[in-house]
Amino acid sequence: MTEIRRVGVLGCGLMGSGIAQVAATASYDTVVRDVSKDIWERARAGIEKSLAKLVEKGKLAAANRDAALKRLTFTTATAELQGCDIVVEAVTEDLELKNALWKELDGRSGPMTIFASNTSSLTIAAMAAATRRSDRFVGLHFFNPVPLMPLVEVVRTVTTSEETFRRAFAFAQSLGKEPVAAKDNSGFIVNLLLVPYLLDAIRAVEHGVASVPDIDKAMQLGCGYPMGPLTLLDLVGLDTTYKIAEIMFTEYRERRYAPPPLLKRMVLAGLNGRKSGKGFYDYSGDPPKVVDLGI
Ligand code: 3HC
Repeated sequence: MTEIRRVGVLGCGLMGSGIAQVAATASYDTVVRDVSKDIWERARAGIEKSLAKLVEKGKLAAANRDAALKRLTFTTATAELQGCDIVVEAVTEDLELKNALWKELDGRSGPMTIFASNTSSLTIAAMAAATRRSDRFVGLHFFNPVPLMPLVEVVRTVTTSEETFRRAFAFAQSLGKEPVAAKDNSGFIVNLLLVPYLLDAIRAVEHGVASVPDIDKAMQLGCGYPMGPLTLLDLVGLDTTYKIAEIMFTEYRERRYAPPPLLKRMVLAGLNGRKSGKGFYDYSGDPPKVVDLGI
């Protein structure tokens, strides 16, 4: 199997920066592409904070943190990812945008380079078909927060070669993750089951079933979940969840994937969750306070 040495990451939002962090920590030279220096600086600061936390908790040696930071470079030029052995894409859930980036890189990348998308809900086939390497295309779906969540779904579409799948699976393991094999269905395994649950929690808020903290508390203490669904929505991002729900609803035409009106209103109001400072909760203070949604 061809060795992976250099990793490219397209996009350094919440997921892309987490993926870049785990790749650099696992000793890969990692080059991250995003559209502006402001975005990289935010991503680098987030990575530094996360690595500092891991050092503080004794999960990472300080020397390994320093080495990881040295292995990370940032660029605005997609062409700078051309020497990478694997490119992981984590830009917003917009097929046209993703495919424009894949097309730009396809002709420049080596014959063994794997293209991997971290899409949450689009199909891998819809991206693989836009390239001339549909046999070297997989899904690598990470979970938020990437440095802490052990799972990676490794997604094989109809054209993915056995060798590509095996290399991608081994790559996920080399990052210290626990991969599972998933087929190319919108939402793969986790989002197929998780997204209807999260949307149902929003519908419960809309219907006044209980207060936001009580819905969260009920699912934490009643089911042993580490976070309640509304806290988790704030972590994942309401804008991201809205896009995922739209894509899955279009794919399956099932009501359980339909984004509830309250989700749309909150996204329109910029209440995108933790990353925007407010969602179901307001994160300006500690502990976060419930946001009055007028329901
Ligand atoms: N890097 C390093 N450390 C981090 C971190 C990060 N990115 N994020 C949190 N931590 C630290 C916290 O600061 C905290 O440190 P402290 O104890 O010193 O304060 C420590 O990790 C533990 O965090 P918490 O106190 O919040 O305790 P938890 O036990 O709740 O652990 C959690 C946090 C692992 C995030 C846990 O709450 C959890 O598993 N939540 C569910 C997350 C989940 O379901 N993710 C999947 C989302 S779906 C998805 O991503 C798919 C997409 O396609 C939608």
